[in-house]
Amino acid sequence: MREGSFPATRLRRLRQNANLRELVRETHLNASQLILPLFIRHGSGIKQPIASMPGHFQWSVDRLADEIHTLSRLGIRSVILFGIPAQKDPFGKDAYSDSGIIQTAIPVIKEAAPSLIVISDVCFCEYTDHGHCGVVASHDSRGNVDNDQTLALLAKQAVSHARAGTDVIAPSGNMDGMVQAIRQALDEAGFQNLPILSYAVKYASAMYGPFRQAAEGAPKFGDRRTYQMNSANVEEAIRECALDIAEGADMLMVKPAHTYLDVICRVKQAYPGLPLAAYHTSGEFAMLKAAAEKGWLDERHGVIEILTAIRRAGADMIITYYAKEAAQWLASSDV
Ligand code: PBG
Ligand code: ZN
Repeated sequence: MREGSFPATRLRRLRQNANLRELVRETHLNASQLILPLFIRHGSGIKQPIASMPGHFQWSVDRLADEIHTLSRLGIRSVILFGIPAQKDPFGKDAYSDSGIIQTAIPVIKEAAPSLIVISDVCFCEYTDHGHCGVVASHDSRGNVDNDQTLALLAKQAVSHARAGTDVIAPSGNMDGMVQAIRQALDEAGFQNLPILSYAVKYASAMYGPFRQAAEGAPKFGDRRTYQMNSANVEEAIRECALDIAEGADMLMVKPAHTYLDVICRVKQAYPGLPLAAYHTSGEFAMLKAAAEKGWLDERHGVIEILTAIRRAGADMIITYYAKEAAQWLASSDV
């Protein structure tokens, strides 16, 4: 296309009023594209505020139904679940127990809102006493997770979530072969139609700090750099995606989101046919909340701008702690 030149061309002509601007909008942000994370713990009557994540709570299962009804009213159609077990141990047994926290919560959520999409995060860091995302040899002090031993446990966890009635399995532990192991186990258990949303491109990031407090899953020693990706790399992200697609991933994810828009864009261009999620993480949420609380930026406009940018980069859906507020802002006309 050849651009005309001034004065024949004036780009401000199409910016003159709100309806005209909406008519020529390229990127749309809807509540139906937002996925809200929920933290669930054992016990009863609990709605425990998470200090570093204002407006977010650890819920006990008996308190969930009210919250789920609120989400439905706001137009939120998907949630992703994280569980805090009653007991942690080296193998994270609560994660694959049929009476585990997630397995208990899923039927309650599905009963409160049968059409709400329940996505289950599948990982071990919330469940292990050492806080790593899989099995760690007892002599290891760096957190070098045993990949292949972890695969069998991830498969068990995924199948137990499937039996509890989850709608999507989302493995987040960055183990090699995790999608294949889970796909095979689901198929063998009769869940051929249960989709996998792979955290295919997950970086070792400082942006997970508040989450680790919320989910009580910070590593007790070492860090996650032997399994999560180096934030310096993007070519490797494409390889991660290729492998996960070959293993049977139905949807891909990039995480974090705001500082990885280039990665989102590259992945979407490389695999335009696969639905792509982006995780606007706890740290990204906390930065905005803190600045907003200080009055240093306009929260509403800032959040809508950032979520729209994540969509513009190529994400089809966004996991965000702002889902509730954004849904309300989007429902009122002046965002
Ligand atoms: C667990 C998991 C983490 C997040 C989602 N799943 C934490 C981590 O890898 O340390 C982070 C989410 C967030 O920060 O909002 N594997
Ligand atoms: Zn983990």
